[in-house]
Formats: sequence, C-alpha cells, structure tokens
Amino acid sequence: MHVVIIGGSGHVGTYLVPRLVEAGFDVTAISRGEREPYRPHAAWQSVRQVAIDREKAEGAGEFGPRVRALEPDIVIDMICFTLASAQHLVESLRGQVQHLLHCGTIWIHGPSVEVPTTEMQPRRPFGDYGIQKAAIEAYLLDEARRGNIPATALHPGHIVGPGWAPLNPAGHFNLRVFEQLARGEEITLPNLGMETVHHVHADDVAGAFMGAIAHWSSAVGEAFHTVSPAALTLRGYAEAMADWFGQPARLRFLPWDEWKGTVAPDEAQATWDHIAHSPNCSIDKARRLLGYEPRYTSLQAVQEAVSWLIDRGQIAV
Ligand SMILES: NC(=O)c1ccc[n+]([C@@H]2O[C@H](COP(=O)([O-])OP(=O)(O)OC[C@H]3O[C@@H](n4cnc5c(N)ncnc54)[C@H](OP(=O)(O)O)[C@@H]3O)[C@@H](O)[C@H]2O)c1
Repeated sequence: MHVVIIGGSGHVGTYLVPRLVEAGFDVTAISRGEREPYRPHAAWQSVRQVAIDREKAEGAGEFGPRVRALEPDIVIDMICFTLASAQHLVESLRGQVQHLLHCGTIWIHGPSVEVPTTEMQPRRPFGDYGIQKAAIEAYLLDEARRGNIPATALHPGHIVGPGWAPLNPAGHFNLRVFEQLARGEEITLPNLGMETVHHVHADDVAGAFMGAIAHWSSAVGEAFHTVSPAALTLRGYAEAMADWFGQPARLRFLPWDEWKGTVAPDEAQATWDHIAHSPNCSIDKARRLLGYEPRYTSLQAVQEAVSWLIDRGQIAV
C-alpha cells in the first residue's frame, strides 16, 4: 500500500513517516526539500522523496495531477491551508485513493461553550487561519459523506516535541519564560492566568494518523481532535514547570491591556491568539473510534522538549 505524505519532514512527519515505514507502507514524501526531519531515522532511507513546491505547482494547476501521478492509495495532507487548495487536490484524487487524511487544527473552534469541546459542537472560528481550516474541514467531510472522497480530518493542538520551542506558560514562544521559572524569578501572566492552552506531542499526532488509517470505516467522513488528555491553565502550567525546575512559582498577574505592553509585540500577538482561543478539547471520540491513546500529558510533552533545549544550551538553567 502506497502512502503519499505532503509535507512529511515537519513536526508530525518526523514521527509519522517512520511509523508508516515500520507498519509496512511504501512511503513517498513531498516537500520543497528545504529541511530535514527533526530526528534522523533509518526509515527515511526507504522513503521516496519528491521535491514539489505546492504553492507554485498549484498556481500552475499541476499540484493535484502530480500527486495523482504518484499513484497513491492513501494521501496524507499535512500542509493544506485554504479551501481552494483542498478543492484542487480533491478534484485530482476523486475516485483515485482509498483515503485522504487532512491535518487541521483545534482552531477550527472559536470561543468555547461547554468544555471539553467535542467535535460535534458548531464551529465559530475567528482569524483567517481557523476560518480557512474550518472551511476545509466542512468541505472534506461533506464530500466524504456524499461518497465523493474518503476523507478524514485530524485536528492537533499546539504541537510539541524535541527540536523546537514549545508554547510557553505565558502563551508565546520566548524561551526566556522557562529560564525565569528555572531561576525562581517572577513571571507575569495575563489576566488571572486561567485561560487555557492545549498541547500535544508530535508523536501522539502521528499515532492518531496511524489510528485513522487502521480504523478506516470509523474515520471516513469524520473529524477528530488530536490533543493531550487535558488542557492546562497558564497559571497551572507555570506552577508545574517551576515545580519541575525545583523552584517556587513566583507569579504576578496583570489585566491584558497592561500585560501586553510588558512583552514584545510579536509575543503579545502570539499570546492573544492563544488565549482568545483558550482551547480545551475532548479526545473521547478519537479514543473510542480510532483507539487513540496519547502517550504524553501536556506537561510530559513540554518537559521533553524543554529538556532537549536545555541539553543543547538553548535554555540556560
Ligand atoms: N505547529 C503547530 O503547533 C500546529 C498546531 C495545530 C495544527 N497544525 C497543523 O499542522 C500542519 C503542519 O504540520 P507540521 O507542524 O508537522 O509541519 P511543519 O513542521 O510546518 O512542516 C511543514 C512541512 O511541509 C513542507 N512544506 C512547507 N511548505 C511547502 C510547500 N510550499 N511545498 C511543499 N512542501 C512544503 C516542509 O518541508 P520543506 O520546507 O522542505 O518544503 C515540511 O515537510 C498544518 O496543517 C498546521 O495547520 C500545527
């Protein structure tokens, strides 16, 4: 069985491609060839790598036909960000593949109502990224349920793993926040620190894709959250990380309008994007239908990533 993964050398592909090879699939990975996976793995020696720039190929109307020409049984699309892009691919793959798996995001949801949020809840996305991802999901599931393309949408939370900076307890990506907690210094959080973030380890996202492939009849026409078993409040996250560093948590709280002036503009924007969503998503459906069982809690995933950064001197403790 031949799997084509579009965008296979990123956070998720680093774990998913070796899992696919080990499970016996023939794997072709499409990317621009500009980067290596975060971790080397012998499995990559048996992966066919095809260099295509999706945006350029789509612009020429060639991307879908080039994917179809690879004769995949399964296509995993890690990097679809617009409805037009999804439609272009589906037009080429209709009737040609057994399964199309799309990587979405939990930002298909806007403000939460009942938490944990289930996949059944109406979508109220905001921001272009979430709006586009929700439109892609709606389109793919509609096409799947009408029997036009056997598609599944998987929605990760904040993806974490060794090799890149995890979303920190202040809701942005500056590693200094971890250093301050490690030294027992005071950090300032917005509002009461009760807004939430929902991480997931990249390998657990990969596991969800494997589960969806293995449980085809339950997965087609369906969307699944792929997050850790529980979201974290910013305050709880900060306290747990300080504890992990062996320090007391010294936390101060400021109303958003004051807090945003205490960090760089890009950090304030990242925090706003995260706390405005304050995701807290259920994984009951993925557990029940895909056998999804994440190996990492949010904290375990972050701590593995932070350990990796400490070992390489990128976080000074
Ligand atoms: N990061 C998060 O926290 C997060 C959270 C929720 C959902 N997601 C979703 O996860 C997906 C991204 O997965 P990821 O984080 O594993 O990917 P990633 O780390 O961003 O890697 C992107 C992959 O796509 C390739 N790529 C990028 N631009 C390309 C282009 N124009 N043409 C062909 N290949 C291209 C990259 O390789 P080259 O650079 O070599 O081309 C790489 O293999 C997205 O759909 C995103 O919405 C991410």
